[in-house]
Amino acid sequence: MEALPLTIRANADKAIVWENDRLYLLDQRILPTEEVYIELKTALETAHAIRDMVVRGAPAIGITAAFGVVLAARTCFADSPERWRELILADMEILAASRPTAVNLFWALARMKKLFSSIGANNPEPRLLQEAMLIHQEDVAANRALGALGAELFEGQTSVITHCNAGALATGGYGTALGVIRSAYSVGKIEMVFADETRPWMQGSRLTAWELAQDQIPVTLLTDGAAASRMAQGGIGWIIVGSDRIAANGDVANKIGTYNLAVAAKYHGVKVLVAAPTSTIDMSVASGAEIPIEFRKASEILKWGGQQVAASGVDAWNPVFDVTPAALVDAIVTEKGVVLSPNSKKMADLMGV
Ligand code: MRU
Repeated sequence: MEALPLTIRANADKAIVWENDRLYLLDQRILPTEEVYIELKTALETAHAIRDMVVRGAPAIGITAAFGVVLAARTCFADSPERWRELILADMEILAASRPTAVNLFWALARMKKLFSSIGANNPEPRLLQEAMLIHQEDVAANRALGALGAELFEGQTSVITHCNAGALATGGYGTALGVIRSAYSVGKIEMVFADETRPWMQGSRLTAWELAQDQIPVTLLTDGAAASRMAQGGIGWIIVGSDRIAANGDVANKIGTYNLAVAAKYHGVKVLVAAPTSTIDMSVASGAEIPIEFRKASEILKWGGQQVAASGVDAWNPVFDVTPAALVDAIVTEKGVVLSPNSKKMADLMGV
């Protein structure tokens, strides 16, 4: 992959850029010290960018995959205008295999595939591009809507803890957890955002702190292990997180450590808010036990910046998501509405099934 320091200025609304028929991703692996866009020319490069964390966050992965299908259509149609539908499926499988947990990836690929039969003999690229752009725009609109709904749950001003990065960088723009935080802050309901560092990729210190600092929203970093102690000190009204996949019973898969937060929150009487668009809800999985959890390389824990930090010869267990049972969740906030104390019946009502 070619790294292009382009003239596009990084800002918190531009993790994914489609410009002049080209796809660019802000390289989130090197934020906040460098703001560099990478151009992706093929579906394979797009899949690698997702796997390697150039782009991350469930909705952003889905949107990127949709643009990856546009790139796939371009090459497949050029190779064989008659057989592009067959050829593109192999590229879509590679995109689908890039990361397993965020359901938005599979949701976006399915939405793109649904269009194939209606495209006829024409070049598929324009129609698929229109859909990818719509997926992107709808995600931003969903985040703004759920942000406003989430902010309404705050009774007065309070401090909150967030985990990982569920902001503009993780979505089409505005953010899910950070969408709620942005909306609540704008009406004076947030005193301080405590952001967990989020080992081992440090999405909290690198990305969430970067976004909030850019918006001049007060943010204080915590090591992941400090969150329960911070709750014990008082003044924390809510834990606010995003999600990679929500099961039909309201169980929530999110960045590893979310479950710890929810358990500690219950003990301290702190409420847990999960902010996610309905594209993150997977009604085909009955409970969190069925959600595939991604495991990544032990070296992500054993090394730091390429340097060995762990004792030689030890192994590491590195699941990168966990499941928080619905019983520990006070509110799931989506663009279609808020589900308090989620369960299967309430989730089915929300989703209209
Ligand atoms: O491994 P990542 O950085 O892709 O994990 C991201 C998260 O866990 C986010 O909290 C989740 O995708 C919600 S993003 C709006």
